[in-house]
Formats: sequence, C-alpha cells, structure tokens
Amino acid sequence: MTATASIEGVEGWLTDAQAARLRERAAAVRAGGRIVEIGSFRGRSTIVLASAAAEGVEVVAIDPHIGSDRGPQEIAAQPALGESDHERFLANLAAAGVADRVRHVRKPSADALGDVDDPIDLLWIDGAHRYGPALDDVVRWGARVPDGGVLAIHDAFSSVGVTLALLRAVTLSARWRYVGRTGSLAEYVRAPRSAASVARQLAALPWFAKNLLIKVATVLKLRRGPWPY
Ligand SMILES: C[S@@+](CC[C@H](N)C(=O)[O-])C[C@H]1O[C@@H](n2cnc3c(N)ncnc32)[C@H](O)[C@@H]1O
Repeated sequence: MTATASIEGVEGWLTDAQAARLRERAAAVRAGGRIVEIGSFRGRSTIVLASAAAEGVEVVAIDPHIGSDRGPQEIAAQPALGESDHERFLANLAAAGVADRVRHVRKPSADALGDVDDPIDLLWIDGAHRYGPALDDVVRWGARVPDGGVLAIHDAFSSVGVTLALLRAVTLSARWRYVGRTGSLAEYVRAPRSAASVARQLAALPWFAKNLLIKVATVLKLRRGPWPY
C-alpha cells in the first residue's frame, strides 16, 4: 500500500508531496521506536504514518475530536462535527487497513503528555494552530524528542500562530536544526543549531509574508483559490 493510494479520498490538508516526505520519515523509525501525531482530523496523515511505520514501531495519534481548531477559521468547539470527524477517522483507518497499528488518544495534546512514553522518534504536529497551543506542543512535546529524532510540523511559515511559535521556540533554539520544508511542512532534527539552519528559516519569511497576503485576500474575497499549505 502506498501512502498516496491509501489517503485517496481521505479529507485533510496534507498535500501528496508532504505525505511523501512524512512517509519517508516514518519509514526511517526503527523497530521499538515511537511516532506521535498531534492532530489527526479524519486520518489523512495518520494513515501515512501508520502505513509507513515498520513493525514494532508504536504509532500514537492524539486528537480530542471535539470539533475545535479543526482547520482554517474553525476554532470554537463544534461537538457534532468533532463526533463525525471521529467516526470518519475510525472508518478511514479501517478502510486503509491500519486501524490496529494506531493507538488513538482522544484528548487535547496538553492533557495527553502522561499517556505516551518516551522517547518520541518522530513527532508530527498538526493540532491547534493558535500561538499558545502551538507553542505548548512544540516546547512540551518537542522536549521528548531525543538527539537525532525528528520534528515535522504543518502550516509552518503559513499559519501565524504556528510560525510565531516556531520562531520563538525552535528557530533560535540551540537544540533544533532545520532540515527543510515541503510547502508548509517544515522538518527539524534534534541536533545542535547551525548558522545555516537559522539563515534558511529566515529565508522562508518572504514566503510567509506572501502566504499572509494570500490569506487576507481570500478572507476579503478578493481572490478565490486554495488556502496556502
Ligand atoms: C488541521 S487538522 C489535522 C489534519 C490531519 N493531520 C490530516 O492530515 O488530515 C487539526 C486537528 O487538530 C485537532 N486538535 C485541535 N485541538 C487539538 C489539541 N489541543 N490537541 C490535539 N489535537 C487537536 C482537531 O480536532 C483537528 O482534527
């Protein structure tokens, strides 16, 4: 089963190129390791991770499914929508044949820290995109990634909250090195910071500015077309 085939028809915002990158990172985690996803929605990225993970790798998906912070401009909780996301999530995982490869923790990430063991070899963050929760995810969950482990995060240099959280806690941190990005999926490795790593992140800021303009124009209905991911 390829990641691209298995997520066909599964709603979500992860592009095929981003799925391919995530799949590679998941496949690189060795048996006995652990992959943690924050923000599963209807299972698009969960299926990528679970179908790529080697046997013996634990895959944990954290999502409260209460309909809050679902996607662009959908912040407040909408329980009925959350419940339908949950049902679709379970059905999509079953249809992809990975239901028994995923341990779903139905809680907000801030309440789930005690539900997951250390270390986390691949941390994939795509949960609440507001600054506070995004910062909390990067700092508290990121601290559990050991040297050589990977942090991948969606909507980097695209969402204001996620980008500010990254600039504050990761870009200038001595403990994260930027690997690169596929659209808004940014990848970091737990390793000493390098000057090149900081410079390459700062070089993404004009792209961030462009994305903000696109979003403003979309909200004001001055343009139609896809939200930047
Ligand atoms: C952008 S969607 C995730 C998309 C998903 N990764 C995919 O590939 O389709 C954001 C998800 O984060 C979840 N979420 C919101 N607040 C959260 C929190 N505090 N902790 C974990 N997940 C959260 C929402 O329920 C929603 O399903």
